[in-house]
Amino acid sequence: MRISVIGCGYLGAVHAAAMAKLGHDVVGVDTDAAKVEKLASGVAPFFEPGLPELLVESIGSGRLRFSTDIRDAAGAEVHFVAVGTPQLPNSDGADLRFVRGAVDALAGVAAPGSLIVGKSTVPVGTAAELLGRLERLGSQAILAWNPEFLREGFAVADTLTPDRLVYGVADERATELLDEVYARILDTGTPRIVTDFATAELVKTAANAFLATKISFINAMAEIAEATGADVTTLADAIGHDARIGRRFLNAGIGFGGGCLPKDIRAFTARAEELGRAESVAFLRQVDAINLRRRERAVELAVELLGGPVFERRIAVLGLTFKPDSDDTRDSPALDVAARLHGLGARVRATDPEGIENARLRHPQLEYVDTAQDALEDAELVVLVTEWSEYRDLDPEHVAKLMETARVIDARNVLDPVAWREAGFVYRGLGRS
Ligand code: UGA
Repeated sequence: MRISVIGCGYLGAVHAAAMAKLGHDVVGVDTDAAKVEKLASGVAPFFEPGLPELLVESIGSGRLRFSTDIRDAAGAEVHFVAVGTPQLPNSDGADLRFVRGAVDALAGVAAPGSLIVGKSTVPVGTAAELLGRLERLGSQAILAWNPEFLREGFAVADTLTPDRLVYGVADERATELLDEVYARILDTGTPRIVTDFATAELVKTAANAFLATKISFINAMAEIAEATGADVTTLADAIGHDARIGRRFLNAGIGFGGGCLPKDIRAFTARAEELGRAESVAFLRQVDAINLRRRERAVELAVELLGGPVFERRIAVLGLTFKPDSDDTRDSPALDVAARLHGLGARVRATDPEGIENARLRHPQLEYVDTAQDALEDAELVVLVTEWSEYRDLDPEHVAKLMETARVIDARNVLDPVAWREAGFVYRGLGRS
């Protein structure tokens, strides 16, 4: 099929390349000329494992190209909208300007009967509003909402082998076209749920709200563990054996960040308020508050471990991205902790395998170094804030030799406390005795 993907960020670039891999003829459109130029030459503009190979393969096959001109989307039978929906600057709500802009632009080029498919995460009710917008603009395209559940770091696999497909549709033709797009995925037995717009939009919001709640639940338990001498990791292992609870997404630490979970729970709260249902999701305010408290706790622990103010103390910060295998520093707890320590006057040396460039744009005041070794040399404390495998695998004996004083805060609870203590470290995890 001929497909266009509007918006080539973390979601759209991967989606475009994956659609070409499925055998479709795809054009990715983005207003950012530098990004388009990179993508067109087979270079991923951000770090995502497997994406560079997929881009090269798909461009090489002649089935994938990129453009800054929306008119290049004109011949497509299906148009995916994958633009960002960031948090509004002065409120918790989502900024829908890019989605509305993309739909307006498509209204001018999409052929009658072609399908416009929203993939961006939007507040419930948006698809209905956009349908009205298309009608007012005289477009005869049809609309569907098909939320995306990919995780950064696993985006390629999550797009090509999703655990479910959800279609929010207003007519059968939309379902037929989406089935054609995803034929190869459906052939493997992937569950497909066909529903209305509102349910499809809510599925996405609810999924992210649930995941955020799960993480904040275990982080709340970490706070109780800290007050009682209990160990939150053992607690998570023990309750996680109950299949109804499950061990995944139950890792206590400095909490969630990134371009999705934080802004999505806030947008959900804002939307519920508009709907007169604020109380239904009032707990999400607590989820957010617990999450942000864990960053403060990591800073408090630094003060505790150093036996006084962090002012002028040398602290190595390992990790800047919101999670490993990504270069994304949007709302990153790791970068926030580094910036808070720096703000208190600590001499922070921070590093990350992929995130330094993005971190520097957000916090140019921090000192960034290329390797863990550089960060650790002569440090009085090391704080592990993003669990990249190269940090998880550090040899505590070697690290102790590099540092002036062997103190470690394991803010992701991924190190072996016994091994680090045996190497002479004062070890502290979050929520661990
Ligand atoms: C999240 C969802 O997991 C995806 O399903 C969804 O498609 C995506 O948002 C989106 O809306 O686009 P992502 O933002 O890539 O994906 O990151 P996650 O893997 O969910 O991790 C989010 C944050 O939670 C990270 O900062 C991570 O360190 C933290 N986390 C995760 C924990 O603190 N503990 C855990 O047990 C798991």
